[in-house]
Amino acid sequence: MKVESVRGMRDILPEETPLWQKLEAEIRAAFALYGYGEIRVPLVERVELFSRGVGEETEVVDKQMYVFPDRKGLQLSLRPEATASVVRAYVEHGLHAKGDLAKLYYLGAMFRYEKPQLGRQRQFHQYGVEAIGSLDPALDAEAMDLAWHLMERLLVRDPSSEVRDSGLFSQPTLPGQRTTDNGPRTTDHGLLLRLNSIGCREDRPVYRAALQGYFAAQVGDLCPECRRRLETNPLRILDCKEEGCRALSREAPRSVDHLCPECGQHFADVQAHLEALGLAHEFDPTLVRGLDYYTRTVFELCSRDLGAQDALLGGGRYDGLVELLGGPPTPAVGFAGGMERLAIVLSAQQGAEASGPALDLYLVPIGDEARREGTKLLSGLRRRGISVDTDYMGRSLRKAMQVAGRSARYAAILGQDELARGEIKLKNLSSGEEKPVLLPQFAADPHTFLRTVDHTETL
Ligand code: HAM
Repeated sequence: MKVESVRGMRDILPEETPLWQKLEAEIRAAFALYGYGEIRVPLVERVELFSRGVGEETEVVDKQMYVFPDRKGLQLSLRPEATASVVRAYVEHGLHAKGDLAKLYYLGAMFRYEKPQLGRQRQFHQYGVEAIGSLDPALDAEAMDLAWHLMERLLVRDPSSEVRDSGLFSQPTLPGQRTTDNGPRTTDHGLLLRLNSIGCREDRPVYRAALQGYFAAQVGDLCPECRRRLETNPLRILDCKEEGCRALSREAPRSVDHLCPECGQHFADVQAHLEALGLAHEFDPTLVRGLDYYTRTVFELCSRDLGAQDALLGGGRYDGLVELLGGPPTPAVGFAGGMERLAIVLSAQQGAEASGPALDLYLVPIGDEARREGTKLLSGLRRRGISVDTDYMGRSLRKAMQVAGRSARYAAILGQDELARGEIKLKNLSSGEEKPVLLPQFAADPHTFLRTVDHTETL
């Protein structure tokens, strides 16, 4: 019986994994440059972590979580995101008691029961950072700078000159101004940083009332779900995907017009820091993000290469979450992005980038005695750091050389004649240069001998 994979949960095959490994390495390197250390949190958590932390009314919790009881009836959930888990770990391990800013990053699988499409999976992978313990607006700007820095490392051309100085970039729009309707302004990389402030817990009731007043007057044009949200959580109407609701949302009252003086100042300071950094961004009053824990700054970095699912990453402040999950009042800011979406953008921008052969060497033994000698040689070469493989499919010399040509930089041919003379023939598979060398000497110092058939490259 053929058993298929679960819809929306895909295998990442060997031809894709080099790209993923490159992404992971670049992400780790960038996070380390900004002072973040890795945290690994479980894939499974108690369901209430997300219903309380992320919010009962959010799509993620209401419709997309994988929830199941364990054998003792405890309700568990596969994690749909990691911010709540990181904050749980922060509180559980008393990281706040250390009194410093905790800068934590993670990489790993998340699970959401969504309709699969390009860039949207049910098992997907996020990279993310959480900086817990400071309200400094410079930290919000630093998080956005890190997001940009990451893209600069990953995207094809070095964008440092373009990203910071290009006339393609928009000047930031100040709160209180409507953005122009010239359409979204993107960078040469097709990237756009969208920014908004949704205020603090004290601002929320005022804004909520303003939204309720506005939407109640047009309740007939709302989808059934949003009519319900009007009572429970009108902010969620702003990220409804239904066209009717979206049209209404575009003219809805803006959160930035309902900020208390502290939140207004904080937002102005964040933008001043972004300007000091030269980071192009667009103020987007409709950006509210889909998770309930956000306060003040929210942002998304979007790419035109992604189509409908255009958010490469998203994040913001969540100054109330640590307290909500049982810790002391502690401000925090972070973001997370989808690895699958990065992989799509990179493949679109780089095309099929030819990668070099995976192996240093391919051994072609001819005859039984050579095979036995070859077994020993392979093991010794690997212990000397040479990546090497051989034929286990009974191929002819010609076929084995074809495989060698596809998979390695050099071939080593061990036939009866070579064996009788105590030699092995080395061949450079790109130049065709070949040379017999003494077998024991080659086995003892393969790097040096491979260089003798290589006058252009070194191992
Ligand atoms: P989020 O916006 O729900 O935020 O997800 C962040 C990113 O994960 C998205 O921008 C997208 O790139 C990727 N993503 C989300 N869902 C999927 C999916 N089904 N398939 C593929 N990629 C997906 C959060 O998760 C917050 N925890 C971010 C955060 C961290 N805020 C503060 N700290």
